[in-house]
Amino acid sequence: MSTDEADDRNERDSHDDRTDGRARFPTETPAVVTCGLPYANGDLHVGHLRTYVGGDTFARALRTLGQEVAFVSGSDMHGTPVAVNAWQEGVSPEAFALRHHERYEGIFPRFDVDFDNYGHTRTDANVELTQSFVHSLDEAGYVYDEEIEVAWDPEEEQALPDRYVEGACPYCGAHARGDECDEGCGRHLEPGEIEDPTSVVTGNPAEYRTRSHKFFRLSEFREYLGEFIARLDGTSNARNQPHEWIEGELQDWCITRDLDWGIPYPGEEELMLYVWVDAPIEYVASTKEFAESSESTGDDDSPTSDGSAEGAGESFDWERAWAEDGELVHVIGRDIIQHHAVFWPAMLRGVGYNEPRAILASGFVNLDGKAFSTSRDRAVWADDYLAEGFDPDLYRYYVVTATGFQQDTDFSWDRFQERVNSELVGALGNFVYRSLLFAHRTYEGTPESELSTTVRERIEAAIEDFEESVNEYSVRAIGRAPVELAAFGNEYIQRNEPWKLVDEDPDRAAQVIRDCVQLVKAIGVLAAPVMPGTAARLWEQLGESGSIGEITLDAALEAPPETFDAPTELFERIEDGRVAELNEELQVRIEDATSEPGTGAASADADAQEGGEENVDTEAEPAATADEADLEPIVEERIGFEEFQDLDLRVGRIERAEPIEDSDELVRLEVDIGVETRGVVAGLKRLHDTDSLPGQKVVIVANMEKAELFGVESNGMVLAAGEEADLLTTHDDASPGTRVH
Ligand code: MSP
Ligand code: ZN
Repeated sequence: MSTDEADDRNERDSHDDRTDGRARFPTETPAVVTCGLPYANGDLHVGHLRTYVGGDTFARALRTLGQEVAFVSGSDMHGTPVAVNAWQEGVSPEAFALRHHERYEGIFPRFDVDFDNYGHTRTDANVELTQSFVHSLDEAGYVYDEEIEVAWDPEEEQALPDRYVEGACPYCGAHARGDECDEGCGRHLEPGEIEDPTSVVTGNPAEYRTRSHKFFRLSEFREYLGEFIARLDGTSNARNQPHEWIEGELQDWCITRDLDWGIPYPGEEELMLYVWVDAPIEYVASTKEFAESSESTGDDDSPTSDGSAEGAGESFDWERAWAEDGELVHVIGRDIIQHHAVFWPAMLRGVGYNEPRAILASGFVNLDGKAFSTSRDRAVWADDYLAEGFDPDLYRYYVVTATGFQQDTDFSWDRFQERVNSELVGALGNFVYRSLLFAHRTYEGTPESELSTTVRERIEAAIEDFEESVNEYSVRAIGRAPVELAAFGNEYIQRNEPWKLVDEDPDRAAQVIRDCVQLVKAIGVLAAPVMPGTAARLWEQLGESGSIGEITLDAALEAPPETFDAPTELFERIEDGRVAELNEELQVRIEDATSEPGTGAASADADAQEGGEENVDTEAEPAATADEADLEPIVEERIGFEEFQDLDLRVGRIERAEPIEDSDELVRLEVDIGVETRGVVAGLKRLHDTDSLPGQKVVIVANMEKAELFGVESNGMVLAAGEEADLLTTHDDASPGTRVH
């Protein structure tokens, strides 16, 4: 069944209930939400935005629950991803990285990604904190020296750390770059591990030289990491992927590089720290900078960098959050799970800090099933999107709700248009506009009437669902909440036809419109995390004073202002012609990117910012057949057998089938599953003759959450394939109740 309900249940299923035994949000303790730091080495594309919009939406949603949150990130200035690109451009890495950092700082606010602090990894705060972290690890005996073989370019007489070298992954054989197998198994690669290495600088085969480096005793954290992973919340990929690494050979981790760009190992100016040491520490440094900037005069004992006291109110207790009992939530893309679920928690543990509560690792945003390529301009750029004049909220909504957070998804202007036109213009915008217009024209604002019980209860349920979605880390469900409520609103206004009631039954008309205005207000509250700009406009149209960014969920049921002006439309339709143009431009870009020959070893490697994007085949892909093109891409994320076992699939026999009157799609089935007969609602009305259903054997998900559809309880889900709802069945004599494995 591909009903919305089923999608949501799937989404929720992927976040099993790990909040057990842990305080629910809002907690008494402060929370920190971080976003993976963008490398300061290129332009941001709409793929990166999945991390930032996802993080921003989640942080805002936490705030609407009343949670104290610091939302932080910063630019990742170091390492070979920056050094190689700067070298190619012939500028110093410092100037190069700062230039990009400043651009990022400018672009996030334009997408309403509202960090409390956006720093970078070269700030004094981060350099100091990094050195103190490493010093503590060293003091505690977690670091040792070892001579290792590192790749070396004999012609240039230089070491070839990380992205200065490419070759084959020793684990899966895929083409790999430097420190990551980004086209194959996704593993982090240690220095010297890559096979058949070639130098990115000269294209020559690399040689090896013996050098002394620092190693972090990651292997000592194996048991701890196993336990940590078991209690980690967030998306299931962040728990599943690391299993293999932790249970396999957990090697110690080389934390220094032969490079002249980075933060030196304390006391050894010649040796730079590996970029993945100082990068996550910026999460802490950025929180600290936020705390200091928001510090109020007087009563706080945490130190300020310059002694100044700006900002008002309570300052954020960064030390409590990081080193005592705060709630740490990391939002990242799936390519950097190992760094966040293995290396980083071991470092935190090593210095006696708190551990992450949750990791939300998103799937990738791709183009035509393939990763973006920065060097080949095979991307949709964040800047270009804005230059098109699109409201940032449209993309925010699209990227947050397109698929479950951990699924990969293809960016498509067609789907973007479809979602915007049907869900934002059609459902949300339409309901808000028609309700406020009617209210304004007829009553000059909110009519005097009581809120009906039905609508009060519907809003209460929406609030409860929203709280649940935040606690389940379901970014998508957070994003869908306002549109779902608007769909109810449209149905409600349509069913009650207040335009007819105005003359026939004015009291009743006033009551219906009073309900609608309240629904509009609640929609605004629920929309604020995912579409802050739209929510602010809605708030203003309602005549509300104050900023919607500061309200909490209870505002959804508070009375709306008595008067307000005529509304304007919240969204504009995206016309077909415009989409055709955008598609054409994108197609040209994709084709250019595909046909352009490699730009040489150096540049092919150099600018990659994200996993899996480079080494785009230079030969054209064989054209997909129409059928293939229509098929949804296979979900890349693998699930463990245990997760599969969570599904209780049973053979069932349909005993009775009857159409549900008010619905075009749904029928109510009675399905014998051996132990009992279940009432199940399924979307088969259009596609099957109801009378032909009894007697058919089907497969049902027997432990599906119960749901109510058109007032009818559904206790299970029937499995069917594709648009035609081709029913799954068995072909031998498996009897009702037999479990499907
Ligand atoms: N600098 C590291 C992260 C250090 S965190 C301590 C990095 N930078 S990045 O620029 O490559 O990516 C920044 C963020 O964008 C990461 O969360 C990454 O996973 C995400 N994404 C980059 N490309 C992406 C897509 N195409 N799709 C979805 N997310 C992507 O990694
Ligand atoms: Zn590999």
